[in-house]
Amino acid sequence: MQRLRPFLDKHCPNPDLVSVIDGLMLACKDIANRVQLGIFSGVLGSAEQENIQGECQKKLDVISNDLIKMVLAGMPQVKGLASEEESNVVACNPDGQYLVLFDPLDGSSNIDVNVTVGTIFSILESAPEDDATYESSFLQSGRKQVAAGYVLYGPSTLLVLSTGNGTHGFALDPRVGEFFLVRENIQIPTTTKEFAINMSNYRFWDQPMQRYIDDLLQGEVGPMGKRYNMRWIASMVAEIHRILTRGGVFMYPYDSREPQKPGKLRLMYEGNPMSMLVEQAGGKSSTCRDTMMDIQPHDIHQRVSVIMGSADEVDTVVRYHQEDTKPTSKKPKAD
Ligand code: AHG
Ligand code: MN
Ligand code: MN
Repeated sequence: MQRLRPFLDKHCPNPDLVSVIDGLMLACKDIANRVQLGIFSGVLGSAEQENIQGECQKKLDVISNDLIKMVLAGMPQVKGLASEEESNVVACNPDGQYLVLFDPLDGSSNIDVNVTVGTIFSILESAPEDDATYESSFLQSGRKQVAAGYVLYGPSTLLVLSTGNGTHGFALDPRVGEFFLVRENIQIPTTTKEFAINMSNYRFWDQPMQRYIDDLLQGEVGPMGKRYNMRWIASMVAEIHRILTRGGVFMYPYDSREPQKPGKLRLMYEGNPMSMLVEQAGGKSSTCRDTMMDIQPHDIHQRVSVIMGSADEVDTVVRYHQEDTKPTSKKPKAD
């Protein structure tokens, strides 16, 4: 089995980028250890403080963030970083070439109930004249990512990574502390019978999403002509890993619960990196109306509606939304 480093040396164009990914893995292996130790490493429970998202941070959110920040800040290749747990971007090394954006711990509501969590990362190039203290140099579309990946802290610790030449899976052998290639060129099945969405938000979705789910739930007797199964782990990394493994569609659409925060997931360090992995594996990723990675970001923490996974199923969801915008002949007569 091939180790991560020689695989990257072969597939990754730039040795500095290989070093950044290597550095990230150092931090993630430390996080993996602490997750495995659980109560014995003091990582459980709340940190009793809120982050910029207005969410109560878990201790492991803060610990993971600080570990990754420490490793990246010490790397000459890293010019700056942005994190779900940091209000502002953090300048690292002025001569660095890369900007690293990350969700240090995704699915953290699961950590206290012993369910899979993970780290998501996205890597952008920064222009030499960019000043990494300014958010503007980070606001690049998902198409500009030079690498993206996640580390899944589950029964096994897995890395799924793309540097633009396919999506590949690695497993950590804890006996030697090394990641080994276990799945080269992952391909997502184009069709599926499995969907993932938080159904408790149904009444807050817009009408096309409600119509799509209604039709889905009619199964083989409805317009989809097949019976679907549902999953919801409340950990995006685990959902996307399942979809990369056996297909499916993951949805966190806009909802009207908090009009000033219509989406739950963040574009820059959840939507975009996961979209790169999914697209590189033959899947699709949309906001219901636009292709995710084409969005020009305006804020480092901006939220986005997320539909990603098996290509044909994502196309179906988008079609329900396009039909919604087509002028219908049945427009009510102006009175
Ligand atoms: P995070 O823990 O980084 O805030 O991310 C949690 C996200 C995502 O991982 C998951 O799919 C979603 O929140 C779950 O949301 P609900 O708890 O509303 O179902
Ligand atoms: Mn997250
Ligand atoms: Mn998080």
